[in-house]
Amino acid sequence: MKLILFGAPGVGKGTQSKLLAQEFSIPQISTGDIFRRAIENKTELGKQAKDFLDKGILVPDLVVLGMVKERLKEEDTKKGFILDGFPRTIPQAEGLEKMLMEIGSRLDKVVEIRVPTEELNKRLVNRRLCRTCGEEYNLIYKPIPENGICVKCSGKEFYHRSDDSEEVVFKRNSEYEKNTFPLIEFYKNNKLLLSVDGVKPIEEVNKDILNLLKG
Ligand code: AP5
Repeated sequence: MKLILFGAPGVGKGTQSKLLAQEFSIPQISTGDIFRRAIENKTELGKQAKDFLDKGILVPDLVVLGMVKERLKEEDTKKGFILDGFPRTIPQAEGLEKMLMEIGSRLDKVVEIRVPTEELNKRLVNRRLCRTCGEEYNLIYKPIPENGICVKCSGKEFYHRSDDSEEVVFKRNSEYEKNTFPLIEFYKNNKLLLSVDGVKPIEEVNKDILNLLKG
C-alpha cells in the first residue's frame, strides 16, 4: 500500500498516518518529523530547514525531494509507505511520480482530510506535547493532567511547537492555500483522490479512511 495523507496543517495527517502505519505494518514518512529531528540534531539538513519551519513557510522543493528520495530507498519502504506532509507542491508531486516510476511503482491512493480552518487553528494553537514521549494534549480538548504528569510515560515537561503560534499557524495555512491546495485537482485528475471528514473523533476518521480504502 502506497498512500499519501493530504490536507491543511492540523487536519490530522500525522495522527491518521500513525494509525494506518500500524494497520498495514508499513512506515509513516513525515517530512515535518524528519525536519524537526534534523533541526534537533543540528545536522546540515536541519540547518537548511530551520528558518523555513520557524517562519511557517515551505522548505525548497529540491531539498525536500532529495530527502524523500533517500528515505524511499530504505528497505522498510519496499512493502509500502504512508507519506505524511509530502508532496506539498506540484513540483514535489511530479518529482514523486518520477521517483516511483524509476522503481516501477506507483501510488495507490491519496487521502484528503478536510477540517474547517477555525477548528484547525484551535487544534494547533492549543496543542502541547510531552517532551519525553511526544503524547499530544490540547488546552481545550485534552488538557495536560492537573498533576502535570503525562498519562502515557509519566513525563513532566510539556512544550508548545514553535510553529504552533497564532502568527506562524496563519502563515502555514496561507502556504497551504497557495502551494498545496492545487494538488487536489492534480490528484483528482489522476483518479487517486479520496476525501474524508476530519472533524469526527479520531477513531471514526480512521474507520472512514479504512472503509474508503477497501471500497
Ligand atoms: P508538518 O510537521 O508536516 O506540519 P503540518 O502539516 O503543518 O501540520 P501538523 O503536523 O501540525 O498537522 P497534521 O495534519 O499532521 O495533524 P496532527 O495529526 O498533528 O510540517 C511542518 C513544517 O515543515 C512546514 O510548515 C514546512 O516548513 C516544513 N515541511 C514539511 N513538509 C514539507 C514539504 N513536503 N515541503 C516543504 N516544506 C515542508 O493533528 C493536529 C492536532 O489535532 C493534534 O493535537 C491532534 O491530536 C489533533 N487531532 C487530530 N485529529 C483530530 C480529530 N479528529 N479530532 C480532534 N483533534 C484531532
